[in-house]
Amino acid sequence: MKALVVYESMFGATQSAAEAIGDGLAPHGSVRVVEVGALAEESGGAVGEDVDLLVVGGPTHAFSMSRANTREDARKEGLPIISTGPGVREWLDGVRIPGGVAWAAFDTKVSTPPLPGAASKSITKELRKLGGRMAAKPMSFAVQGKAGGLLDGELERAKAWGDQLGRTAGT
Ligand SMILES: Cc1cc2nc3c(=O)[nH]c(=O)nc-3n(C[C@H](O)[C@H](O)[C@H](O)COP(=O)(O)O)c2cc1C
Repeated sequence: MKALVVYESMFGATQSAAEAIGDGLAPHGSVRVVEVGALAEESGGAVGEDVDLLVVGGPTHAFSMSRANTREDARKEGLPIISTGPGVREWLDGVRIPGGVAWAAFDTKVSTPPLPGAASKSITKELRKLGGRMAAKPMSFAVQGKAGGLLDGELERAKAWGDQLGRTAGT
């Protein structure tokens, strides 16, 4: 199985979750974890025809995927920013995915207070339009406020989710 994990991250939490998902997937085949802007620069954002499992994740901003204005708000926190280019929303707007690909979406979001909406649900909606098949329901990993990182236990949960994905999609 060949898996591609594409993520967007402002402060690092979604990047950490993506890497943990990659760790969980690793026993099941070859895995590449790549930041969405890096993929866009490298290959115009293309997903190789040989990818069997596509996992897409980003931070929840304003109940959904980030937009240019929410990314601008994030920059105002004054912290180093990982995804400085286009986000997952823009990438999904232009990407084509292999016909038989299995896919799944994840996000990071605050759990306290519980807010409606999740980037993973919006990503799932877009992936459905592109074809392929859903390998897992949208998944959220909880963070501490905007930039406080993943809550305790969430990295392990992300790795376990990746492992589960690898088991179900990897055959
Ligand atoms: C502009 C902005 C809007 C946000 N809106 C939401 C939201 O609607 N719901 C939520 O649960 N978290 C929200 N958050 C918190 C983000 O989900 C959190 O910053 C993100 O999960 C951290 O991931 P990252 O470190 O990969 O950027 C928001 C954060 C920012 C900066």
